[in-house]
Amino acid sequence: MGKKILIVSTSLRKGSNSDALAEEFAKGAKQAGHEVEKVSLIGKNIQFCHGCLVCQETKRCVIHDDADKLVQEKMLYADVLVFATPIYYYEMCGQMKTLLDRANPLYSCDYAFREVYLIATAAEGSDEVWSRAASGLEGWIACFPKAHLSGVVFGGNVTGVNGIQGSLAMEKAFEMGKGIV
Ligand SMILES: Cc1cc2nc3c(=O)[nH]c(=O)nc-3n(C[C@H](O)[C@H](O)[C@H](O)COP(=O)(O)O)c2cc1C
Repeated sequence: MGKKILIVSTSLRKGSNSDALAEEFAKGAKQAGHEVEKVSLIGKNIQFCHGCLVCQETKRCVIHDDADKLVQEKMLYADVLVFATPIYYYEMCGQMKTLLDRANPLYSCDYAFREVYLIATAAEGSDEVWSRAASGLEGWIACFPKAHLSGVVFGGNVTGVNGIQGSLAMEKAFEMGKGIV
């Protein structure tokens, strides 16, 4: 039986490059027989973490917005989590970081995910551009000892919308999704 794969696409722009890579990853993973769901943060109401830590007692966030729903209804049950982000100032975008903070209730839950993937796009092309985003995500993963960072797909040298089409990164994203066993 295939794995349950949740892809969270965090760019808020239409024609997003990281979202296009996420689509390719999804296609590959579906072809490999997995159950794949991609959720975009476009139009979602996601508030900042209040830092109250009530979630560590109740396993639920006190803020009942779209992040709470995503965490409770989807992130908790996925075997594989995939985060797609544009690089903003050599890091993951703010909305992705906010979502990771808001996933704090999972820390005290019996979460299912074991594999985590990162998809990133940026205007520049060197590996240094995405390494801090990977490092930030690894910091989050470090708090979930049953999980690890399983792979990164980076699409560099893309600034405008739909700039990623036809790139090698698209093929890599497809292959990485397809490679999930
Ligand atoms: C606020 C902001 C900060 C950015 N910072 C960087 C950066 O540090 N390095 C870089 O190479 N590109 C940077 N970019 C460019 C985006 O990463 C690039 O356009 C990317 O393809 C956007 O992905 P998306 O289409 O999925 O939103 C930045 C863009 C914005 C809007």
